[in-house]
Amino acid sequence: MHFDSLDEFLDHSKSRVEKTLNTVISRHGASETLSKAMAYSAGQGGKRVRAALVYGAARACGIEGAALDPLAGAVEAIHAYSLIHDDLPAMDDDDLRRGKPSCHIAFDEATAILAGDALQALAFELLTQAHGTQINAKQCLAMVSCLAQASGAKGMVAGQMLDMAAAHDAVDLSQLERLHELKTGALIVASVELGALSCAHVSPTQLEHLRHYAKAIGLAFQVQDDILDIESDTITLGKAQGSDVINEKSTYPALLGMKAAKERLSQLHHTATSNVKEFGEAAQPLIWLADFIVTRKY
Ligand code: IPE
Ligand code: IPE
Ligand code: MG
Ligand code: MG
Ligand code: MG
Repeated sequence: MHFDSLDEFLDHSKSRVEKTLNTVISRHGASETLSKAMAYSAGQGGKRVRAALVYGAARACGIEGAALDPLAGAVEAIHAYSLIHDDLPAMDDDDLRRGKPSCHIAFDEATAILAGDALQALAFELLTQAHGTQINAKQCLAMVSCLAQASGAKGMVAGQMLDMAAAHDAVDLSQLERLHELKTGALIVASVELGALSCAHVSPTQLEHLRHYAKAIGLAFQVQDDILDIESDTITLGKAQGSDVINEKSTYPALLGMKAAKERLSQLHHTATSNVKEFGEAAQPLIWLADFIVTRKY
């Protein structure tokens, strides 16, 4: 498939992943309320950057098609679960997400916690369904391992723990980058890796370059998120602007100032794009996504 712009590529990724998630959630549950809460938080909304990274990385390796849908669904399910839990009163205590009441406001806290738990399990169920004509059992196992490591105590959850521990406290730059790499970067790196792993003959060098790309945009994504918490507004963001300041979070602009935060963004953008040059035209969506991640306004 040919894409003329980032918007076209994002629309394509969004419609594929939302169809996948809505289908699997609607046929899933033994509790109607739980399924409704899962669909409310995962079935619609969001920029779907992580899904687009799955499709974009696979495309860079020459793979396209429906076999990628469960992979994109899996990363967006983990991401949606992380956002539901991130907004809970015990964590960031935010009432607005993706332009509507957060899951625990629209439903209740217990339902929100359980919807997050169920989305996490659903992600791995989806990955096991990726096994088929294009993706073999060995690739499938590598994907399960990749997503599990990125999501748990070596990845996103560890980052969230460090984020909570660092609130109200001063951290140094290397601690802050570590925190960002774990809470946000890990899942972004996993999105790119899952896409690349869909190609049975991806070379170790290609995988390495894609990982460098992903590490850079993963960190950049959270740096820009921290900048937008200060510079954007609640309507544009679809989530409460100023939440980090109220919660006294350790953020890039808080530690280094806005100018240095923006300089770091452009360094990271350069690192990311220079690592995917060798893939040529096939990596165009990955280049667009790197541009978007550092310039986005929402
Ligand atoms: C928000 O992620 C949480 C972070 C990791 C910074 P996104 O900005 O990708 O949120 P959605 O999916 O578009 O709502
Ligand atoms: C969220 O970081 C990271 C995860 C959800 C894992 P933030 O707390 O900065 O995300 P937002 O700003 O609420 O979307
Ligand atoms: Mg948070
Ligand atoms: Mg938050
Ligand atoms: Mg934030």
